[in-house]
Amino acid sequence: MEKTKVAIIGLGTVGSGVARLLLDFGDRTARHAGRTLWLEKAVVRDLEKTRDCDLPAGVLTGNIDEVIDDPEIRVVAQLIGGLEPARTVMLRLLESGKDVVTANKALLAEHGPEIFDRARDLGRCVAFEASVAGGIPIIANIGQCLSANQLLSLQGILNGTSNFILSKMHEEGAAYQAVVAEAQRLGYAEADPAMDVDGTDAAQKLAILAHLGFGARVNWDEIPRSGIDSLDIIDVRFAEEMGYRIKLLAVAQLVDEGIELHVSPTLVRTGGPLAEVGGPYNAIRVVGDAVGELLFYGPGAGQMPTASAVVADMIDIAVGRCPITFRTLELWSNRASRVARADYHSARGRFYLRLTVDDSPGVLAQITQVLGEQSVSIASVLQHEPNEAGDSISLVIMTHKTTEGAASEACDKMSKLACVQATPVRMWVRD
Ligand code: NAP
Ligand code: HSE
Repeated sequence: MEKTKVAIIGLGTVGSGVARLLLDFGDRTARHAGRTLWLEKAVVRDLEKTRDCDLPAGVLTGNIDEVIDDPEIRVVAQLIGGLEPARTVMLRLLESGKDVVTANKALLAEHGPEIFDRARDLGRCVAFEASVAGGIPIIANIGQCLSANQLLSLQGILNGTSNFILSKMHEEGAAYQAVVAEAQRLGYAEADPAMDVDGTDAAQKLAILAHLGFGARVNWDEIPRSGIDSLDIIDVRFAEEMGYRIKLLAVAQLVDEGIELHVSPTLVRTGGPLAEVGGPYNAIRVVGDAVGELLFYGPGAGQMPTASAVVADMIDIAVGRCPITFRTLELWSNRASRVARADYHSARGRFYLRLTVDDSPGVLAQITQVLGEQSVSIASVLQHEPNEAGDSISLVIMTHKTTEGAASEACDKMSKLACVQATPVRMWVRD
């Protein structure tokens, strides 16, 4: 059988999984690719480290030039995280005539235009299925299978680590900090887990999906975002009491003015499809004008689910499918049409507000006056009898639909009231 030599750069969580699939299930990949994907080299930084895979002698190397200088290696899975040296490695690989697969969304969200332009100029291709939602084939679905549609909206749980932490908070009442370390140990988290929990990773993935699905060329760091890093267990409990779960939701919504984009902890109805997504799983709800509503669900992080997406991309390149779609999609191309960004403050929705207030007469009247002045209508109010004598109490307000701007302005004004003891907590609600 014909042989296509391939290489892996970075043999961490994902790289080791890719090596295992190529080495242990070579007959399977050969069947789908019509040729053997032969793992010629695996490049690492630290040659002494124990790896989560058994490599044949001569495959492991600390010298990337052994890949760059080998013209027979055609396909490379570039699985180093972060921006540098990942960017330089990526460009060097393309310049030396390789087609490249990557799972690195941070790199694509930051340097996508440069990398894709360079690949096009050189007649090479870049495949990136694993960069969004781990094992879920969302890139192929949005980029190819839904191309007869105008996408209208997308709501995604796109960060497995955050979802794992939130699930533990809901199910076990676990404290946020205790679960982060577990997510790291299980291989879900980024090298810097702050990117998982502060909304950065989800915003980078949303930028890729918004570009692919809506033609919106957007810098990921311009996407309004908040993470779960300051989420208090008390909000998890209040949400449950009112019939909701909290999820870190990435949202793209087409409105008259353009596209709305944001990433925020959001209350979703218990029993609804997004609320039921647990652990490191991801889900993406997509609405297209022709197809209607679709829901993609699956493991969003972890070794083998991510490796599954990487190896499928390697097969696509070896077969010759990927170069065709890459040329057609014109990603991050200056020729691609652009969609305007809608003003975030005009985005409409319901909000959960939690205020820590003085437990004294007239407080509720002051709060409702501020909300009224901002034309924010109250749907419900929740306050418990105090358990013990104290001078503060939590007051939870669910609003009717309003704008993000009005809700945030109301919170700013309420935080200035003498009876409000802490910065109000504000989250989107999606029924
Ligand atoms: P990881 O476990 O930290 O592995 C990164 C690997 O890169 C390590 O093996 C490291 O080598 C290697 N490396 C770093 N600098 C290098 C250099 N200069 N030369 C050669 N090798 C170098 O990370 P990971 O979890 O596998 O993630 C890899 C990428 O996939 C990231 O972009 C991540 O965002 C993305 N991703 C991860 C997941 C997941 O669930 N983990 C899912 C989807 C996407 P040493 O081992 O020798 O230090
Ligand atoms: N750290 C990422 C997550 C890996 O938890 O979703 C998958 O991209």
